[in-house]
Amino acid sequence: KNSLKSAYNGDFYIGTALDVNQIEEKNAKVTQLISKEFNAITPENIMKSMFLQPEENKFDFNLSDKYVAFGQKHNMFIHGHTLVWHSQLAPWMSKIKDSVSMAKMLTNHITTVVKKYQGKIDSWDVVNEALNEDGTLRKSVFLNTYGKDFLTLAFKTAAKIDSKVDLYYNDYNLCNAKKRKGAVELVKNLQKNGAKIDGVGEQGHWHLDTPTLEEIEKTILDFSALGVKVAFSELDISVLPSPYGLQGAEISQRFANNEKMNPYPKTLPDSMQVKLAQRYNDIFKLFLKHKDKISRVTFWGVNDTQSWLNDFPIKGRTDYPLLFDSNLQPKKAYESVISLKAKN
Ligand code: G3I
Repeated sequence: KNSLKSAYNGDFYIGTALDVNQIEEKNAKVTQLISKEFNAITPENIMKSMFLQPEENKFDFNLSDKYVAFGQKHNMFIHGHTLVWHSQLAPWMSKIKDSVSMAKMLTNHITTVVKKYQGKIDSWDVVNEALNEDGTLRKSVFLNTYGKDFLTLAFKTAAKIDSKVDLYYNDYNLCNAKKRKGAVELVKNLQKNGAKIDGVGEQGHWHLDTPTLEEIEKTILDFSALGVKVAFSELDISVLPSPYGLQGAEISQRFANNEKMNPYPKTLPDSMQVKLAQRYNDIFKLFLKHKDKISRVTFWGVNDTQSWLNDFPIKGRTDYPLLFDSNLQPKKAYESVISLKAKN
């Protein structure tokens, strides 16, 4: 059991998000590490609508073809992210004004992309982040023009093209009780409308102390009770104070002191390594307890240098959320995740 994927073989897929350089195999050391450790991939950015259909009816599959080829070459489970999202949206899509044009766009985008990778992509995030924190549907160009049934339209269109591919709803902060309830309603509503939904992707952008294990377990139980799979689709554990809930001036105020912003200049201090390792250990123990309900656990990046959490929410913050450090060396957190299986 000398890799994540071999340790968790038979439990669930262990995935990573790939950035453009990794897809293009620019660094042999990284490619080697990815193929050794992971058996599932998600494109971090290149399959979002601004990249796939930057102009109306002008599709660009150059990078996504390379992404799929990477997964095939390394015999991986290939996930697609994401067909419908209000962010990184092609600018022309954001200008759609009426329901007929929205239906046309959604149908054409989903049909074209799903058909293109039919039989190659194993699961899709059909809709990403449609919910507000209070569980209501987020205002977006989709909701504003087409109404709440844009979700049903999206899922039905995808299933019509590829009846075998797994279709997911994906979102963050699903441990928040109100948002979780909203997600449960969202899934029920799709089912009631006769749309096929196979899973809920819970992103898992978490912290050392939040959410609690009890909250995470609740999400696993609540979603699987709907008869769908649960994937942890974008896992990373920030070791820094959370910016969530803070806005603009509040953020700069709270992180005004550079030391507070970035207390770990070069590497993560040992005491924090231990905390992160313990947190990952607890989480994976819970995942194993519910392995029959969990399809995939995907990290949001291979190593700390790649993480979207660096420079978020303001420039200058360095975070250490993943299992491999900036030199691609396994951290204590890696050992703790692997050792769980060595014992079991
Ligand atoms: O491509 C441009 C490049 O040309 C430019 O030089 C550079 C300068 O900043 O920006 C590049 O675009 C960046 C893009 O990633 C590609 O690297 C954007 O600024 C940056 O905002 C964008 O961030 C991505 C973010 O989604 C956008 O919302 C992150 O990499 C990506 O990890 C993140 O992923 C999301 C999931 O899709 C959905 N769930 C949350 C998750 C984390 O935010």
